Amino acid sequence: MPALDRLAIALPLIQAPMAGTSTPALAAAVAEAGGLGSIAVGATDAAGARAMIADLRARTARPFNVNVFVHEPPRRDAGREAAWLDALAPRFRAFGAEPPPALDEIYRGFAHDPAMLAALVETAPAVVSFHFGLPPAPAIAALKAAGCLLLSTATSLDEAEAARRAGIDALVAQGWEAGGHRGCFDPDAADDRLGTLALTRLLTLRTGLPVIAAGGIMDGAGIRAALALGAVAAQLGTAFIACPESSADTA
Ligand SMILES: Cc1cc2nc3c(=O)[nH]c(=O)nc-3n(C[C@H](O)[C@H](O)[C@H](O)COP(=O)(O)O)c2cc1C
Repeated sequence: MPALDRLAIALPLIQAPMAGTSTPALAAAVAEAGGLGSIAVGATDAAGARAMIADLRARTARPFNVNVFVHEPPRRDAGREAAWLDALAPRFRAFGAEPPPALDEIYRGFAHDPAMLAALVETAPAVVSFHFGLPPAPAIAALKAAGCLLLSTATSLDEAEAARRAGIDALVAQGWEAGGHRGCFDPDAADDRLGTLALTRLLTLRTGLPVIAAGGIMDGAGIRAALALGAVAAQLGTAFIACPESSADTA
């Protein structure tokens, strides 16, 4: 895995960051087994991220990845939100509960969260990965100065080029098959819905950056196929959900 050499990872495998599902225990187990473990802090605040990083560091001395969401805050629309609450109210009542008085955003946008940037610069995880977009140049510079290797998901060549121009070190080619969150930078832009094989090959040939294939890869044969297409590693999410260390059944 030449691009990730400085991490000294034995296996070309990244356990995907999965907000609400991947845990410090899962990331540590993967790290100890020779892959790169990841935690996702997109649904928590800076204090929560610090606690997860400390928990992970207490379990392993190996490198790991911390993943943040870099989306724009949602545009509020009081009428639409009230309509959703009305539509969901019968479902809540069917279980003897009342709907909340208002909707709230649980996912924080990293570009608007200076406390999270400070937490990552201070704790300096070996890898920081971005999802749904790219942070401003000063944040990228600060994380690089802290020694973090930077990854960004890309679902298209345009997103990959934007990541390269921003100074990202390696791309996570996230195909249409990818489970959970598929991190398109602009939800309103045209989407070619490229599959993992095509996207991995395209980004490998056209960007010059190391590419990590993600989406629908479930075992060693899939990882070998991704490497044959030019990827330096594969990122697997769904395959790890059944692990006892995942919080999928408790979240
Ligand atoms: C339950 C779940 C949650 C996810 N959450 C995140 C996340 O927080 N950040 C992120 O970058 N990717 C997230 N992903 C996407 C993964 O990084 C990865 O691209 C995807 O799991 C690959 O496809 P696969 O599930 O078929 O292996 C999530 C995936 C799943 C299945």
